[in-house]
Amino acid sequence: MPFPTVPIDLRSDTVTRPTAAMRRAMAEAEVGDDQYGEDPTVNRLEERAAELMGKEAAVFVASGTMGNLVALLAHCGRGDEAILGDESHIFWYESGGAAALGGIPFNLRPTSGLGRLDPDDVADQIRAVRPGYPRTGVVCIENTHNRCGGTVLPLDVLRELTGVARERGVPVHMDGARIFNAAAALGVPASTIAAEVDTVQFCLSKGLAAPVGSLVAGDAPFVEAARQGRKIVGGAMRQAGVIAAAGLVALEEMVDRLSEDHARARRLAEGLAEIPGVNVDLETVQTNIVIFRPPAGLDSATVIEGMATQGIRISNYGLRGLRMVTHYEIDDDAVDRALEAAASVMAPIHA
Ligand SMILES: Cc1ncc(COP(=O)(O)O)c(C=O)c1O
Repeated sequence: MPFPTVPIDLRSDTVTRPTAAMRRAMAEAEVGDDQYGEDPTVNRLEERAAELMGKEAAVFVASGTMGNLVALLAHCGRGDEAILGDESHIFWYESGGAAALGGIPFNLRPTSGLGRLDPDDVADQIRAVRPGYPRTGVVCIENTHNRCGGTVLPLDVLRELTGVARERGVPVHMDGARIFNAAAALGVPASTIAAEVDTVQFCLSKGLAAPVGSLVAGDAPFVEAARQGRKIVGGAMRQAGVIAAAGLVALEEMVDRLSEDHARARRLAEGLAEIPGVNVDLETVQTNIVIFRPPAGLDSATVIEGMATQGIRISNYGLRGLRMVTHYEIDDDAVDRALEAAASVMAPIHA
């Protein structure tokens, strides 16, 4: 185990700590004032991100939340509507930032269990240009889809959805916090996925294990607008090369191993499904996230507490149940131990 003193932390892939190579790169990073465009490490990271996404340009931001926010601010003027899923991270967990700061109303659409929006529904919701209707500024999609269990949008499904938006002249933004997990699951480069959307946000700080940072990529005018938005929200930095350096290592060294996390998530899900009464929808376990429901009569808080006493941390996912996420600090032994703990905590009680 690389980190023996810490419990097995399956709450999220955001708990990953920087690798030794990242810490070295951070210590040695060449830096400058990024607001003058003079931080060579940030510049390299932005260029690399644009290249990996197959886009003209990219901008480095502090978090996935900031990335989505500046993207929405770039796509929408005040009063322009964003169409997005009712299970999306942007809606659930980003403090309504686009509405609070950009005056951008959310038009929330139903999300399928596999994290998909219905293209006919989206087509229907894109407003005609008419007094009284808000302009539709953007359609947002999420890939992989967090609350739906890390599900991946197959390329044909993605194309159908972006097709309806493009036909109507509306740009599509992808919250691709975990786009590299989607790419690993589909066996394609991330740029193949990103090619289907106008703009994309992806995170370095999730399965790629960097301590901080996300990138927003798109065409040059969009990235210029996102850069302006980043300044507005106070996110323009100075010698940010010290954190960008870890991001470069993340892109270099941590992408190819994501399929290991997927295989372990699968093993976790299949093991959980064998515990009587535990409900796991195996169809949704496509990447590194496993969502499951405990047996009837056993509440989530009891399971979380029981697991914690055995050194296993998992997270509460409200009505969706409980969540476990695999990442590079979770090895095969950790999966075995998590399954043993789960089996004992959720064991059927015999009268
Ligand atoms: C799908 C998705 N989008 C965006 C974010 C936001 O990222 P951050 O926590 O860096 O703001 C997350 C974080 O977990 C996420 O899962």
